[in-house]
Amino acid sequence: MITVKSIKKEYSKWDWQAGKHVPFTEEMTMFTLTTPGSTYAIAALESGYLCHVWYGRRTDDEDLSYLLRLGENPYTPKVNQRDMGTFMDTTPFEYPVFGTGDYRESAVRICDKNGGTSVDLRYKGYDITDEKPALEQKLEDCTVTLPSTFADKGKSQTLRIYLADAHTGVEAELRYTVFEGSDAIARSAVITNRGDADVDILRAMSAAMDFDSAEYDWHTFNGSWARERILERSPLHHGKQSVDSIKGESSHQSNPFVMLTSHNADERTGEAYGFLLVYSGNFTATAEVTQHKRTRFVMGINDMDFSWRLAPGAAFAVPEALMVYSDRGIGQMSRTFHDVIREHIIRGEYKDKPRPVLINNWEATYFNFDTEKLVSIAEQASKLGIEMLVMDDGWFGHRSSDNSSLGDWYVNEDKIKGGLKALVERVNALGMKFGIWFEPEMISPDSDLYRAHPDWAIQTPGMPLTQSREQYVLDYSRKEVRDCIYSQMRAILDNANIEYIKWDMNRQLTEVCSSKLPADRQRELWHRYVLGVYDLQDRLTRDYPHILLENCSGGGARFDAGMLYYSPQIWCSDDTDAIERLKIQAGTSMCYPASAMGAHVSDCPNHTVGRTTPFATRGDVALVGTFGYELDVTRIPEEDRNAIPAQIEKFKKFNPIVRTGDLYRLWDIFADNTFDAWMFVSKDKGEAIFTAVQVLGRPNCHSRLVRLDGLDPAARYTNDLNSEVHTGAALMNCGFIVDLQGDFRSQTVHFVKAE
Ligand code: DGJ
Repeated sequence: MITVKSIKKEYSKWDWQAGKHVPFTEEMTMFTLTTPGSTYAIAALESGYLCHVWYGRRTDDEDLSYLLRLGENPYTPKVNQRDMGTFMDTTPFEYPVFGTGDYRESAVRICDKNGGTSVDLRYKGYDITDEKPALEQKLEDCTVTLPSTFADKGKSQTLRIYLADAHTGVEAELRYTVFEGSDAIARSAVITNRGDADVDILRAMSAAMDFDSAEYDWHTFNGSWARERILERSPLHHGKQSVDSIKGESSHQSNPFVMLTSHNADERTGEAYGFLLVYSGNFTATAEVTQHKRTRFVMGINDMDFSWRLAPGAAFAVPEALMVYSDRGIGQMSRTFHDVIREHIIRGEYKDKPRPVLINNWEATYFNFDTEKLVSIAEQASKLGIEMLVMDDGWFGHRSSDNSSLGDWYVNEDKIKGGLKALVERVNALGMKFGIWFEPEMISPDSDLYRAHPDWAIQTPGMPLTQSREQYVLDYSRKEVRDCIYSQMRAILDNANIEYIKWDMNRQLTEVCSSKLPADRQRELWHRYVLGVYDLQDRLTRDYPHILLENCSGGGARFDAGMLYYSPQIWCSDDTDAIERLKIQAGTSMCYPASAMGAHVSDCPNHTVGRTTPFATRGDVALVGTFGYELDVTRIPEEDRNAIPAQIEKFKKFNPIVRTGDLYRLWDIFADNTFDAWMFVSKDKGEAIFTAVQVLGRPNCHSRLVRLDGLDPAARYTNDLNSEVHTGAALMNCGFIVDLQGDFRSQTVHFVKAE
């Protein structure tokens, strides 16, 4: 719910020259966003400054203006202009500007026609709508809709606050959306040039937030290839702590999701604020502890190497950020994110549908496959209950290793003998669907495409191009480049019954410069590139609504909410080892739902870490995600092969709860990596699945008591392990006994409410 109130109050301030208190009145407009568990308040002062008043635990008090402490602040603009600098550098601002005395992190920085970079945004008005507005970026040759939350009419409310800068004519429209029944709040902005001269946006953040304290822990998700989204937590300290990407994608190394929590916060208790950027390119998130031990937080497109020219009349769409507050710990914050992503970000036919159990040939064959090999895998897989064969990298051009053919999206008939249609028909005849891999953003130096269009690779004239995995990045800011790739993809998709696409992206951007942009607009390329990717994924998902799209980037380097707008699932990591996956999946689950996490059972010794784990454990860990196989089913041990039908049956039985239910992490794998446990509870609390993984066995008294969560305390639950019946209260307050022997062992237990 959003309310707007005009508040007029008497204050007094101490006038040190007069040596007495001077009375004054302030009339402000107070905007209050109320969600089931949180309140967010903003005030527009008479002077036009838009101040941040409160974000946190829900309070239904109508007047939170006292939190601004206007009388206490000696530099309230209404009554004291003589030291505006101090007012600017200490006041909590809603969308802080650069250049007028606020030296903390700013939300917006704009270069005017004289080269000045100061801007002064003041309140002009507001409106409220119950239709969620789309975020659209108009480009020269098309309009791109940015990924953002959506909602049915009447199921959300959006507040738009308008601010304007008199000297440039720049207007900022700040958008805030609340959703029925959700504790998530979406924020974005649209910056429009209503002046008569060009301006350059140098920084435009999606969210800014001033906290009254610095007593928080800062949580980020860091890693590298095959080790994505490993949680790191530390108390805030003076100065700035930030996480970012300048690689052109959200990256393996960091993720556009951060949390600020109370020091005592854990899964079940304490305060947690989560901030998630709905964007897939360069980003930054910074928490700055200021001189008075308060905290300013900002998040948005990374302003490093960024600028955007705004001609008179033009507008810039600032990507959306999602914020969630929980006073019931990190777990509750995660569940709110899972719900809002599942309901308001993920779209398309597979939004609420079970995904087919797939087998992907990457770890089975790498580049070494042909039609017969793929059919032999499919024949075996179909008998075991696997529902889809995915042909990974290596089927096109003359690619037989990673050194060629990206950009040549025609079938290599030396490998796919008889053509793709014939292969797909054979797979379909086995009762299986067929999926295919593309890496549409890339170009190999050894490709017909590069020989014909060397300028299509992103490059800086006069410099050698940096190769990574022997490939270059296509200039996706250019529509003709996207069109060419898309028409090649269409030819493939229209030629055979393809029901799934894995869209991969295996390198980061370097020598960023486009032959299509003038010198003084090259800093737009990073963002234009991402818009180009969005444009193509949008066309693809519109034209082929029945195809299940899975995004991927060298594993999980583009696991972000921007990508989830197009694909309901993303490949989580190239590390398929069940034990490594515990941290990767736990980190990912902090805000992304299990329904989105690409997870497969692979062969052992694991190709990334060389570890051997039981087949059952690999299955139990992959159950937390989309589930599938990444192995040569014709060559794995017979015992493992024989276990597949039962594993799939288990997946089918439990996936509805995993896909739609509530996740409770029961162990902190980041603090104690010898054990892990989690559970998913159906929304009606009627059933739950519980999984425990014992990484390392223990001598003597080895069983563990694990406190369950999310159950109905008064209900009685039976389980399929020992058929005992216990109340939810006993299972949650006292615990459930996990008695596993040995290393890398796992157990999945089904709890059902007894009648
Ligand atoms: C990286 C992906 O993460 C892998 O699953 C695989 O598709 C390779 N790329 C293929 O090149």
